Amino acid sequence: FEFTPANLAWAEGQIAKYPAGRQASAVIPLLWRAQEQHGWLTRPAIEYVADKLGMAYIRALEVATFYFMFQLQPVGSVAHIQICGTTSCMICGAEELIAVCKELVAPGAHQVSADGKFSWEEVECLGACTNAPMAQIGKDYYEDLTADKLRALIGRFSTGEVPVPGPQNGRYAAEPL
Ligand code: FES
Repeated sequence: FEFTPANLAWAEGQIAKYPAGRQASAVIPLLWRAQEQHGWLTRPAIEYVADKLGMAYIRALEVATFYFMFQLQPVGSVAHIQICGTTSCMICGAEELIAVCKELVAPGAHQVSADGKFSWEEVECLGACTNAPMAQIGKDYYEDLTADKLRALIGRFSTGEVPVPGPQNGRYAAEPL
């Protein structure tokens, strides 16, 4: 793995923001850019970032494994779906959302769907508890979900559409129902 020339120039700009000896502070943005470039973080990608920052691979791996935003396994080409399974969402129906993922995407978390488009996992609270249950699909939050609404969202993503994120029950009139 190595950054494209454009990403390398961007990474060097990030690193230059920090004082000498503190380059490791740029680990999150560089890991994120590596994931953006490749789709997920391979070991060589993490090693490359660690090397760029003069830090041990294990230190970069610690960061990559701590945050749900980083994927250490292949993900769907259209979207990785993260279902919040913490208390508010679990009480309000997360289990039904997970059942939809098992049915429409893949039977197991972190498996890629047969068409290569989607993958899913259950994650801890994403901080949108007031609109539970919710999921992060790609980079956006989709909230106030039901099993049927999640089915519809997956179907729309599958055709290349990017549904308007936010509450899916019309709470803020983000999208006509
Ligand atoms: Fe699901 Fe907080 S419990 S977003």
